[in-house]
Amino acid sequence: MPHTGQRAVAQEWWRTAAIYEVYVRSFADGNGDGIGDLAGVRGRLPYLAELGIDAIWFAPWYPSPMADAGYDVADYREVEPLFGSLAEAEKLIAEAHALGIRIIIDIVPNHGSDQQQWFTDALAAPAGSAERARYHFRPGQGDAGSLPPNNWPSVFGGPAWSRTTNADGTAGEWYLHLFSPGQPDFNWAHPDVRAEFADVLRFWFDRGVDGFRLDSAALLAKDPALGDLRSGQGAGAHPFEDRDGVHGIYREWRKIADSYPGERVLIGEVWLPDPERLARYLRADELHSAFNFDFLCCAWDAARLREVIDVTLTTHARVGATPTWVLSNHDVVRHVTRYGRADTAFSMSDRRIGEPADRELGQRRARAAALLTFSLPGCVYLYQGDELGLWEVEDIPDEMLQDPFWERSGYTDRGRDGCRVPLPWAGEEPPFGFGPDGCVPWLPQPAEWKDLTAERQAADPHSMLQLYRAALRLRRAEPALAGGDLTWLPSPEGVLCYRRADSITVLVNLSAQPAELPADAEVLISSSPLDHDVLPPDTAAWLRAGATSPGAA
Ligand code: GLC
Ligand code: CA
Repeated sequence: MPHTGQRAVAQEWWRTAAIYEVYVRSFADGNGDGIGDLAGVRGRLPYLAELGIDAIWFAPWYPSPMADAGYDVADYREVEPLFGSLAEAEKLIAEAHALGIRIIIDIVPNHGSDQQQWFTDALAAPAGSAERARYHFRPGQGDAGSLPPNNWPSVFGGPAWSRTTNADGTAGEWYLHLFSPGQPDFNWAHPDVRAEFADVLRFWFDRGVDGFRLDSAALLAKDPALGDLRSGQGAGAHPFEDRDGVHGIYREWRKIADSYPGERVLIGEVWLPDPERLARYLRADELHSAFNFDFLCCAWDAARLREVIDVTLTTHARVGATPTWVLSNHDVVRHVTRYGRADTAFSMSDRRIGEPADRELGQRRARAAALLTFSLPGCVYLYQGDELGLWEVEDIPDEMLQDPFWERSGYTDRGRDGCRVPLPWAGEEPPFGFGPDGCVPWLPQPAEWKDLTAERQAADPHSMLQLYRAALRLRRAEPALAGGDLTWLPSPEGVLCYRRADSITVLVNLSAQPAELPADAEVLISSSPLDHDVLPPDTAAWLRAGATSPGAA
């Protein structure tokens, strides 16, 4: 049975888009302070247009004390001064639109910053006050309330509660933060919170943004009892993850998005173990799209990838949702590194920084993975630097690490800084054109990145950058690639082979043996050079259909 495609709704841009994540801090530095900014992005918009993307997703650009690199928002209607200004963001939106690039911005609704006005007001107000009701404040347990109100853990390590100090210096109530103490969780049962975020959505839609990426989208609704987390609390019964109450929020947001012209979208960051539960966020009156983390985490293994692809297509089709494909983002170990390890699967709970990785193998597989991803039905997400084949930087000196994971884990988890190292654009030594000469990037760039600069790769027809450009161009030119049906064809073990609509056959060889290409194959693109009619290991190719199934060489 073929997985039937999305032809009927192909006019909706977000169903087949290529969306590129810009992590502003590390993209390009316009003013030379070592921190990426909006001026830097504006200067590189032509690069992104040439790459062939349809939209940019910006990691948070709001004012922030940076307890979690901007995911602690102090003002949802402004731009971080280190990055630029609101006026500059508006210019950027207009310039991107003029190049045919849409703009998605991050919104962080689960928690704010401890420096946000609402929270400082809440701290100044007494227990039980209206100000505190917008968050989750509770008395502690045990003698004199010295223990947290429940056993919930923070994602970054340690308890999800911090204790406050009263005006008279005595110990006070505790407040909930599922992430760092600088990120207090909002109480989504409070009407002020709902009204505030509805207004923030409108604020940015009015300024022309084409959509939002919803941070931690499955965590907003909490069990009002705030009881202990117990094992075996399955779907719907968990006290703070994926509670049914969250869907009402997104139905309200969907109405707001739909009230604007031009197909504005809502994209969920929904990490859930059960793909059926994920699909519930994608029902017709909720979010448009969500990241496919099962695909991201999957090992470089044909059988497992095929299973993830099948489950994704089936669960999404059931609710009429568009599948998405993502290899990396600012939270995970870069896939060049993952695919170069002995164990190629990924888990957020163990980043395995420093584990041996064969970079050359990782890059070869990353090239094949790009052709796999770009030939699956639906929308694709790229993370800045994917197109340059960057690897995870695993030797950042301890004292330079900034991710809260490092400190909160008791200095055992080195965190996510290694995928956030500033991009190499040009030249032979740091800052590699990231900023003006002499600027010192906020994280050190490896000297070997001189071979991976965008400038160097633009001049090399065999580079990762050129592969990305060519593949994205073909994906646009051949609507069957992103929009049509997918039918699996018979293939040798370790080789993925599928037909897209009736026109293109895709082969990805994940085995250790070469695979034979069909005799009459017209190769549109391959991730590595082909050896006559043979597809070498860790190589992918797109063929003009007509071609039949491959055999073993
Ligand atoms: C999301 C973001 C991550 C952040 C967290 C808390 O997972 O992608 O970077 O730390 O939410 O906001
Ligand atoms: Ca700067």
